[in-house]
Amino acid sequence: MILAFETSCDETSVALTEGTRVIVNLTRSQMVHSEFGGVVPELAAREHIRYIKPMTDRALREAGISLHEIDAVAVTYGPGLASSLMVGLVFAKTVAQLSRKRLVGVNHLEGHIFSPLIDFPHLRPPMITLIVSGGHTELILVKDWFRYRLLGETLDDAAGEAFDKVARLLGLGYPGGPRIDRIARKGDPHFVKFTIPRIKRGGLDFSFSGIKTAVRLLVEKNPPDWVERHRADIAASFQETVVRMLLQNVKKATRMTGIKRVAVVGGVSLNSRLREVFREEFEEVYFPSKEYCMDNAAMIGVAAHFRLQAGFESPLTLPAVANLELEYEN
Ligand code: KG4
Ligand code: ZN
Repeated sequence: MILAFETSCDETSVALTEGTRVIVNLTRSQMVHSEFGGVVPELAAREHIRYIKPMTDRALREAGISLHEIDAVAVTYGPGLASSLMVGLVFAKTVAQLSRKRLVGVNHLEGHIFSPLIDFPHLRPPMITLIVSGGHTELILVKDWFRYRLLGETLDDAAGEAFDKVARLLGLGYPGGPRIDRIARKGDPHFVKFTIPRIKRGGLDFSFSGIKTAVRLLVEKNPPDWVERHRADIAASFQETVVRMLLQNVKKATRMTGIKRVAVVGGVSLNSRLREVFREEFEEVYFPSKEYCMDNAAMIGVAAHFRLQAGFESPLTLPAVANLELEYEN
């Protein structure tokens, strides 16, 4: 049984997991940032400090489990906002030391990679995993657990960041992804012909800054009432293009590697059009359920379980690493 913490950005999350089974997963999304249109690090850390202890008490109470019944404490130690990471890390270390349990530091991206196992416990590598969230766009070949090859990544904005910025340009508010998703259902996805950027031939990298700029120019060059009238059409066209960009590279990746098993994880994997298109395209594609697409501690607990099984454990001196990367092989 693992007590897991995730505080890398603006979600405070505490979970109790056993293998791939989630006993309880409590996630609190911070609303203080909405008026700023993005996450304010100082405010995020303060909110984590305020909620992590009561949420832990509640998780243990709801599960009817006491601290001495757990086997290990898992925590995200990067990548993320340094001050946010530190709150979870200091708290996890304190709990581990007080209860004399092992500590397992987990890379947040590895947490996302393991997230589909909560709903699909029999899922095994090799597979192609696309991580798409507010902070990340990574296309990874998961050869085996802990053996990754980076196939492609974004050269500028993350996919979710592009959704958030375009939503802001269209006056849809923050967070933008779900709002674009909703309004796009009423729009014409072929209204604006956005081009898919050509990146290095055969390359599997992504770029979203071009389409973001295209939307900004469209909004600036046209009268506000026109933009207002075509908001759903612009949102739908933007979304369709981004989904096609993601699909194109995942398809290339399956062809290049011969691996047909695909997983899409992270906040943007909630996008309804993305799910629809990917399900049409791939015979074997896995999406976590909503709770586990967004940042959550359950996926950290599941990744920690596999890490522990592989004999991995972290020292109490484990630091927060804001720019932590996955260890890639060729
Ligand atoms: O994984 P996540 O909760 O946090 C990060 O690690 O970043 O992802 C949040 C991102 C935000 O950018 C949000 O706009 C996006 O996921 N998102 C969506 C949808 N729901 C959330 N993007 C597109 N369509 C959605 N339905
Ligand atoms: Zn994330």
